[in-house]
Amino acid sequence: MDHPASTSHLIAEGVYERHAALRVLHASPEIYPLAKTGGLGDVCAALPAALAELGVDVRLLMPGYESALDQVMGPRVIATVDTLPGVGRARMILGRMPDSSLPVWLLDCPALFRRPGGPYQDAHGADWPDNALRFSVFCHVAARLAALGDGTGWMPDIVHCHDWPGGLVPLLLAGSAETGRRAKSVFTVHNAAFQGNFALQQAARLGVPQRALRPDGAEFYGQVSYLKAGVNYADRVTTVSPRYARELSTAEFGCGMEGVFRARADHLSGIMNGIDDALWNPRTDIHLVARFGAPQDPGKVACKRHLQESGGLQADPERPLALLLSRLTRQKMADVVLERLPDLLRRMPELQFMVLGQGDADLEHGFSGLARQWPGRLSTTIGYSEQMAHRAIAGADLLLHASRFEPCGLTQMYAMRYGTVPVVRRVGGLADSVVDAGPCAAAPGATGFVFDDCHGDALVEALAHAVMTRTRRPDVWRILQGNGMDADFGWSRSAREYLRLYRSVCGVPADAARGAIPRMRETGEPL
Ligand code: ADP
Ligand code: GLC
Repeated sequence: MDHPASTSHLIAEGVYERHAALRVLHASPEIYPLAKTGGLGDVCAALPAALAELGVDVRLLMPGYESALDQVMGPRVIATVDTLPGVGRARMILGRMPDSSLPVWLLDCPALFRRPGGPYQDAHGADWPDNALRFSVFCHVAARLAALGDGTGWMPDIVHCHDWPGGLVPLLLAGSAETGRRAKSVFTVHNAAFQGNFALQQAARLGVPQRALRPDGAEFYGQVSYLKAGVNYADRVTTVSPRYARELSTAEFGCGMEGVFRARADHLSGIMNGIDDALWNPRTDIHLVARFGAPQDPGKVACKRHLQESGGLQADPERPLALLLSRLTRQKMADVVLERLPDLLRRMPELQFMVLGQGDADLEHGFSGLARQWPGRLSTTIGYSEQMAHRAIAGADLLLHASRFEPCGLTQMYAMRYGTVPVVRRVGGLADSVVDAGPCAAAPGATGFVFDDCHGDALVEALAHAVMTRTRRPDVWRILQGNGMDADFGWSRSAREYLRLYRSVCGVPADAARGAIPRMRETGEPL
């Protein structure tokens, strides 16, 4: 990268301290609050911050979307990057994250990233037609940053990239020998259903190396797959819960890539996501109309009343209020919920139901239409706002989080922290984070209700069981709420697991001080 006062001589000589902090670059297509479409944005903000707490020197890289350029703190252009596939030149902007103050590079390429709409889709929910190029350019920049530094002497030991938009990074790094030193790569799969598969004929134009276009590389049924590239070329592959790590090797959950995951089983592990327990804390949450520290606190009652009123539901503290808060997609079984909601509302006349989310147009229309048929019982809000999400999670009694598959899921953990009892399907991170109350609702340490089948009957039964428990066994209900509120879903344990993984991939003993690793000469030999 060009820089007015290049320090490349330092890089070439490898003049670094012997035990510097481990340097990790997180490359993600979304980082909250600069950009977010779901849990990936939350994770890529909170995990780096937790790693920094452990002494890791973390920096972030994200595309320079309009929303990011508007919100980043103290942005300044620090370098230009040339010879990028398809676009030629782009600028690197360095700034700081609004919440954590971590340094973040934004890849400023207006032709690719400054446009109205989301990170992957336009305002009508259609994928951007040039996504292959957009994220290929992003990956090339991450790999370049890893191989050459940013011109100020900072070079990562590890590039940790996320989901298919970062999938080409490990492949590009595997072939990079520009400085004789290669950063290691960690690739995290947040959702194997999104694979970034594009026509093979585009590969050369996208800068995908020819050597990778083979079945044990990045080729996937006649396409080039960014996800497969990430899985096959990364030094380590992780996913976001231990159970999803196992599920990925099965036909039911592998989304056609099960063989790819099986082949890399020795390098694949599941590390449970945490939640940002400062942002999601009912005692201090700035979004709430009232705050609370225990399920029976008046603050929780006030949050519920406010939610009922804002949703046009009768403000009665006794009536059970269930919430669906998610992307409205098939992954989240929103289609099944929509189909079975009339049954649920008929079967439990006291039940109130609230839907908050956005997603597939037919599901959005379906829930809006149903709300018109069930005034006072069902409230639907199509949209996406942080404040609404916090208020809904705080005010509801139950969160319904049925999913066909769920790599981790964050909302069930947010719910438990707010004394809102989750009803979830036994898949992925839902199964790993919710302790089932069992048939008598009295299992020790229980925090919610877990059901197995993805057909509607199981969902209806589980929700009915939960509602009945709340109505008939308030003592048991309080225990479930209390267990959830007391559970530790913070990042510190998982961040330590990532740190152990980073050390092992760099060949550092697990007990090395804090994040520190012995710095390597640029030739790759230890000093
Ligand atoms: P996924 O990433 O698959 O959508 P997660 O449970 O991991 O599922 O993360 C969902 C994130 O998106 C949470 O932060 C949740 O609060 C947020 N979210 C989902 N729907 C909405 C909505 N309608 N409004 C605001 N935030 C939402
Ligand atoms: C994906 C998954 C979700 C996970 C999130 C963050 O969006 O669907 O289960 O919690 O990534 O890892």
